[in-house]
Amino acid sequence: MQGGRVLKTLHITGGRPLSGTVEIHGGKNAALPILTAAAAIPGRFLLRNCPEIRDVEITREILALLGVTSHRAGSELRLDSTGLRPAAIPPALAGQLRSSVLFLGALLSSFGNASIPLPGGCVLGARPLDLHRSALETLGAQTEALSDGISCRGRLRAGTVILRYPSVGATENLLLAALHAEGPVRILGAAAEPEVDDLIAFLTACGAEISGAGGPCLTIRPSSLHGAEHRILPDRMEAATWLCAAACAGGSLALTGLVPAHLRPVSDALRLAGCRITEEAERLSVTAGPLRAIPPIVTGPYPAFPTDAQAPLMAALLKASGTTILEETVFEDRFRHIPALRAMGGDIETVGRLARIRGVKQLHGARIRATDLRGGAAMVCAALGAEGETVLTDAALLDRGYQDLIKNLNLLGASVSAD
Ligand code: EPZ
Repeated sequence: MQGGRVLKTLHITGGRPLSGTVEIHGGKNAALPILTAAAAIPGRFLLRNCPEIRDVEITREILALLGVTSHRAGSELRLDSTGLRPAAIPPALAGQLRSSVLFLGALLSSFGNASIPLPGGCVLGARPLDLHRSALETLGAQTEALSDGISCRGRLRAGTVILRYPSVGATENLLLAALHAEGPVRILGAAAEPEVDDLIAFLTACGAEISGAGGPCLTIRPSSLHGAEHRILPDRMEAATWLCAAACAGGSLALTGLVPAHLRPVSDALRLAGCRITEEAERLSVTAGPLRAIPPIVTGPYPAFPTDAQAPLMAALLKASGTTILEETVFEDRFRHIPALRAMGGDIETVGRLARIRGVKQLHGARIRATDLRGGAAMVCAALGAEGETVLTDAALLDRGYQDLIKNLNLLGASVSAD
């Protein structure tokens, strides 16, 4: 929210370099599973560094319907799940974000059954739930695909489940479902994204016994659970977006309050492209320079190049001299931002999941529409480095995952207005 309003259309005047310091907020993809975990653990919680973004507010609304109260004071969020009760989750809420699927595991843990509407989230392909369902069924739960949702019942038994793909959401759902299993649960082939580790750190603070964090083999042993305090991991994708914004707009930025190692594939790619990037403990400094094409980039599960930074990096490479190949291996339909980048003068060709970017001398403003969260962010980045004005409609999408983006862009020298 920017001043309580949801952004609709942005007017971005390009050609203005960025300069200054940006404090990185808590991570959307760390906060959402941690908030949802409150529906699996009766207790009181204090979450620090919780971002003020729409997906968090929607999750709070869902929690409130389940009897989990929450009160915000800036970036601190206090939750009380001692009054947790079964309730139907409205499709209008669940259908706005992908992480609503995690209420399946949380409520299965709490009540031994759960029925949730189909999740929403960015349109990046089919985004099926087969990995979630088959993993829960392997551990003894019965799941059923409903016309407008998915139901699950039965307490998980001890056992081992193998994920054929390190799905972030399936790993998180299993962690929540296994909290009240009959015995130890092992997850082989688990996702190892920093956000999964942060969920594990939170659950451990709540008394959970989880081993293997950071690797592909997790073991959860049932234990008594309670409330906890936790500081949410900084948002590596917000930081990656700011690096790409500086590369597009020119100028110099200092990013503070982040974990540089978590976005190393992105900073390495931009260094290769000609940006000067220095790392300190919780700080990244970037100075843009003339950009050049880089060796092929292939997205993949952590620690590979992150799929969520594919679109912003593509924007940064639009004026890089030479040709760069990007391969998107995680989602089958994650090039929906390309027509808008072409409308601004970008020279991009795709064949299946491969995109070839040929650098152009100049980009120009255009009237374009945000297609998804990271695609919309990429359009903002490209507009910063384009001649003239870009009008970006459906920009409310950005509000889902970026706190104070427009305010900070203007503080750093950009010219962005919203109506
Ligand atoms: C999480 O989505 C993130 N969202 C995504 O960020 C991120 O792009 C993604 O992980 C990959 O890192 C949140 O954490 C809220 P997956 P998730 O399950 O859990 C397929 C953003 O912009 N798959 O790891 O949905 C799936 O279709 C968002 O912040 C199945 O086939 O990602 C995809 O191709 C976008 N069956 C691949 O696995 C399943 O049952 C990775 O999906 C589940 C997933």
